[in-house]
Amino acid sequence: MIKVVLLGAGNVAFHLAKAFLRSDQIQIIQVFNRSEDAFSFFPNSLSTTTSLSKILDADCYIISISDDSINEFSATLPFSNKLVVHTSGSVAMNQLHSKNRRGVFYPLQTFSKNTEVNFAEIPVFVEAETKTDLQLLQKMGRSISKKCFEINSEQREKLHLAAVFVCNFVNHLYHIGYELATENDIPFELLMPLIKETARKLDDGIPSTMQTGPAKRNDKKTMAKQLEILHLQEHKEIYSLLSNAIANHYGRKKL
Ligand SMILES: NC(=O)c1ccc[n+]([C@@H]2O[C@H](COP(=O)([O-])OP(=O)(O)OC[C@H]3O[C@@H](n4cnc5c(N)ncnc54)[C@H](OP(=O)(O)O)[C@@H]3O)[C@@H](O)[C@H]2O)c1
Repeated sequence: MIKVVLLGAGNVAFHLAKAFLRSDQIQIIQVFNRSEDAFSFFPNSLSTTTSLSKILDADCYIISISDDSINEFSATLPFSNKLVVHTSGSVAMNQLHSKNRRGVFYPLQTFSKNTEVNFAEIPVFVEAETKTDLQLLQKMGRSISKKCFEINSEQREKLHLAAVFVCNFVNHLYHIGYELATENDIPFELLMPLIKETARKLDDGIPSTMQTGPAKRNDKKTMAKQLEILHLQEHKEIYSLLSNAIANHYGRKKL
């Protein structure tokens, strides 16, 4: 069994813990977090600590804390020459302190504690400084997912940027759509078949071949009317920016 200590108890650590508990190759021997509160989400069977000095001896330490704290936190670990990885999409492997053997274990999905995920379908991207450590991370990745890939920090940075566009930005657009619908007494759920079909269509082709809408068709009167209906300046700016980007891509004239 590969002995793992989770360092951090947020969304990703929570879902990794659930996946590792189902794996017959990984044993979570401890979860560390700087505060007690987050442990309440984890199974009682797991050993926990808030003290860095009480961290147990493991084969792999997984730092799953906010991106900006990874560098500093890795320097505070009271051991050296151990395999220490982080789970971030955009932090380079060499941001981890060099007193330990460094690596990355990045699962590409949007994780929230209150939402179930099927880890078997989540791509896990691994990176390590040595072949032996890479093989260990691949073994861990393959024990919880059908999709485990090796990529370097530069590729992962671009992958994460792509993820910000297709997940975080799209979700904010859902939010604007939610507000527009509910402000006008239209249940948001009526938009769900459209949302699902837009994503499903990507099984049939690349995004640019699936684009529809007023900007693609160059329906200027419709776009001018919709711009007028929007009452928040920020929403008008987003509408114009995205419509112009679509118009540009398909060789149409800008708004
Ligand atoms: N959420 C996602 O969808 C997702 C997907 C893939 C990868 N990731 C990556 O996974 C990592 C964790 O993300 P998350 O969404 O799980 O974060 P999160 O739910 O916001 O949890 C943040 C964790 O970081 C700890 N923390 C924050 N600052 C710290 C510091 N200075 N020292 C020690 N611990 C600190 C927090 O401890 P307290 O409980 O004490 O505040 C908490 O355990 C990030 O690198 C993120 O980029 C996230």
